[in-house]
Amino acid sequence: MAIPVTAYPAPFNTTRASHVVLSVKDLAKSRAFYVDCFGFAVSDEDSKTLYLRGVEEACHHSIVLKQTSGEPKAERVGMRVYTEEDLDKAMHLFEQAGLPAKFVEVPNQGRTLHVSDAVGTPLEFCATQPTRPRLVVQFEKHHGACPLRIDHFQILTPEVPKACEFYASLGFRLSEFISPDDSDTLLFVFMQRKGNPHDIVFAGGRGPRLHHAAFAVPETSSLMQACDIASRHGFGGNLESGPGRHGPGHALFTYFRDPDGHRIELFNTHYQMMDIENEPVRWNLQKITTRPWGFPPQRSWFEQASVFDGVEPKDPAHKGNPMTLERFMLEKSA
Ligand SMILES: [Fe+2]
Repeated sequence: MAIPVTAYPAPFNTTRASHVVLSVKDLAKSRAFYVDCFGFAVSDEDSKTLYLRGVEEACHHSIVLKQTSGEPKAERVGMRVYTEEDLDKAMHLFEQAGLPAKFVEVPNQGRTLHVSDAVGTPLEFCATQPTRPRLVVQFEKHHGACPLRIDHFQILTPEVPKACEFYASLGFRLSEFISPDDSDTLLFVFMQRKGNPHDIVFAGGRGPRLHHAAFAVPETSSLMQACDIASRHGFGGNLESGPGRHGPGHALFTYFRDPDGHRIELFNTHYQMMDIENEPVRWNLQKITTRPWGFPPQRSWFEQASVFDGVEPKDPAHKGNPMTLERFMLEKSA
């Protein structure tokens, strides 16, 4: 399969990854993790729901946490479009594609379109949210890792090329991809609308499932600060991988699991990728490691992810054999 060509102009104007909606078992425990420990700002809260944003964000929420008595799940990932007209164009496109699409009322955001993408990922698009004070220069309110803003989502799917083709048809550009060799076989695709390496990433695996939502932090030292402060709040054991540096995207990162197992990435930072002549960067798995230094992630990072509510994940046709930390240590000690 050739690398999918990005539709230009885009059929509707998606501007960026916007927010993630998760269900959690104990809202107080989630608040202790996201707010007290990591430093997210609270935009609104009641006994059932917590709306959070990073300190650079003026829009109402980039994380919505909903109390559940059942198993915690991911509900949706949210994207922003530029205008109300873009929502109507999006509705038309999803209907024409035979994919689920309906307008719904959602608190604290404008008219909202619920859809499923071509590989079954539940998405919502909106053009507006209420605003709150941007806390970026209110330094006295910064604490924890000081998360600035949401940046991207990563989704696991057994159908990476199909996902890439679909999002290219929506105007997303492929910034980087991982191939098993020097071919254009797509194992892992990084796709963007906002002009940095990714808004949404698709990786091979049982899915669709939400692997992580990622948030930018101001300084490299914020990643270490996050680890230190997590340990003081009793969340030191929630560090799953890192600190380390990615190959694709080049970011420095840490991955934490929240009290319900949802994974968040804190990272610093990305490069610009918006000029028309920029070609996708290919990473050949046989020639490189996806991380230039440090240990590979533990097996859980490859295998565990948040199930989307009401969506039965499918297994990939072939199970991979990634270089997990466990495999790495075994081979080193042999
Ligand atoms: Fe990421």
